[in-house]
This record gives sequence, C-alpha cells and structure tokens, in this order.
Amino acid sequence: MNSFNFKYPDHRPRRIRGNAVLREMLRETRFSAEQLMMPYFVRAGRNIKEPIASMPGQYRFSPDALLKELDTLASSGVRSILLFGLPETKDEKASASYSSKSVIVQAVKAIKKRFPEIAVTTDVCLCAYTNHGHCGLLSADGYIKNDASLGVLAKMALAHAEAGVDMLSPSDMMDGRIQAIRSQLDGKGFEELPLMSYSAKYSSSFYGPFRDAAHSAPAQSEGLKRPAPKDRKGYQMDFSNREEALREIALDIQEGTDIILIKPVLAYLDILREAKNTFCFPTAAYIVSGEYAMVKAAAQKGWVNEKESVLEILTSVFRAGADLVITYHAKEAAIWGGSK
Ligand code: PBG
Repeated sequence: MNSFNFKYPDHRPRRIRGNAVLREMLRETRFSAEQLMMPYFVRAGRNIKEPIASMPGQYRFSPDALLKELDTLASSGVRSILLFGLPETKDEKASASYSSKSVIVQAVKAIKKRFPEIAVTTDVCLCAYTNHGHCGLLSADGYIKNDASLGVLAKMALAHAEAGVDMLSPSDMMDGRIQAIRSQLDGKGFEELPLMSYSAKYSSSFYGPFRDAAHSAPAQSEGLKRPAPKDRKGYQMDFSNREEALREIALDIQEGTDIILIKPVLAYLDILREAKNTFCFPTAAYIVSGEYAMVKAAAQKGWVNEKESVLEILTSVFRAGADLVITYHAKEAAIWGGSK
C-alpha cells in the first residue's frame, strides 16, 4: 500500500527485470565520478610513495609524489580529494597542526597551483599531531580538555584556509568546534569557505587501518597522573545510539556546518537514511579504512569480486541517502563506471 491508499494490482515484476535495457532505464540509484572524494595521506619528504600494509593499494605520499598521483586521479574523473597529514613532530599541544609550514599547507599550495580544478579538502583534527594520539588536548589526569582544544582546532583550520584549501573537514568530535572554527574563519575573511563536519562519528573498530596509516592511534602518554584511555569512546559516539546521532547533527547544522558526514557507513546505513530524511541537508558518507580493507582482503583471497562488491556497496550508500561518498576506492569506482 502506498501513501495515497492505492492498492497495486497483482503484477509481474519480471516483465521489466527480464529486459536489460528496461532494467537499466528504471534503475533508481546511480552515481558518477563527481560524487566521489578520494582520501590521501601526506608525509614529509621527496619522491616518497610508501605502501600502507593494512590498506593495500593506498600509500603515504610526499607532496611531490602526490602531484604525480593526482595526474592519474584526474584522468579517472574524480575531482575532489581529502588530505590527512603526518607531521614530523608530535607534542602535547599539537603545535605542528597549525604551523604555516606544515606538510599539509605545503601540499595544499602545490596542488592548488598545479591542479586548480581539483577541490581540496583537509582534515581538521589533532590525533596525528598530539604525542598521546587523542583528537583533542589532554589534562594532566588524562581527560580530554574539550574547550581548550577548540582554539587549537580553529588555528589549524585557519592555517589551512590561508594555504588556499577549498573545504575543511573537522573530524575531532569536540563539542562546539564548528562554531569555534566558523567564527575564526569568518573573522579572518574566510566567510565563504565551507565546512564538512563529521557530525555522527561513531567510535569504531573499522578505523584500525587508518590509525596505522596516519600513525594516530591513541596511546598512553607518559607523565600523566592518570593514564588516558586507549580508545576514543569519551568523544566519539556509542554505536548503539541513534537519537544521539540526530542531536549531534542538529548541533552541527546550528553551529554552521555546510555538509554533515556520517561515519563509518556499512553498519550505519540506517543512520544515514534517517539523517537525510530528517534534515534534508547535504550529506556525506565515509567508507572507512577497515571497510576498505575487508573488501581488499577478501578480494585478494579470491573470495569476493572486488569490482562487483565495491559497486554494490557504493550504490547502497547512495541509495541510503548520501550525496557524496568518501572512499579509498574512488579512483577505481570512477573507472569502473558507476552503478552498472
Ligand atoms: C581522525 C580521523 C580518523 C578517521 C578519519 N579522521 C580516525 C579516528 O577517529 O580514529 C578514520 C578514517 C578511516 O578509518 O578511514 N580523527
């Protein structure tokens, strides 16, 4: 029964399914290369393309090597990238995160010069920059200092804005950071720079390979009175919670985000659909490192077909309501040609 109380007559769905052309005409979900965003890890150095063991096919690039990689990305049709930085130094204040000479600042400048048509987004979070690996600053007794972290995140955002980035993506999950970043940017003349915020970011085991790639796993830190937790459950969301996701998204929208992001995705398609239906807001979904690694590992063993399973997964994420998808398979998926 549909919403206008019309009872469908008995019919034979196979009449359409049996014809490949009709089947394709009536396909409800399609996506194209412009809706995909490709993440990259950037490290210092020259001519470095370092494989990441837990993410086959992914690398840590030095800025010059990344430019070469972007030549091949551009030919796949993907036009949007997300950069994560690996700093040379980590400390308790995450000082390298807001340096105007950071590897991310260098990479953004080089990319925008060579590929002005590529939309460059940068991650805004402290976990790769703190010596303890948490996404915010820690107090001496091992607690996250939420409000003190906001100023550091805002400075990091400003350094990236000044480098010429096209969008910023705060992934730290501190409360109030969208407002803090927005007011810092607006005060410095970056009113038009968009934010894509990780609004519903769940504490997930599927981030494992990323923490290996970005050297950002939370570790106990020396010199603290009380050891800090080795997980991010104090600020990332409990995967049992649905209403909390809606509240987090509402707050980010109120604070001025331009795109909401749900992450991970495969175990959270219900949240994605509900977020889209509830807020009618530009919505991104991130197929994270562990989700990528699972498909890669099974494909390498010959247990699933990589192309088929990637296209099926991606289509399901768009079907669930995503407007754009961040995926380590972006380049291949674009070449494989969408949801065929
Ligand atoms: C940083 C951050 C993480 C991811 C994106 N930004 C890791 C984490 O929160 O531990 C995960 C991305 C992925 O797994 O692909 N806070």
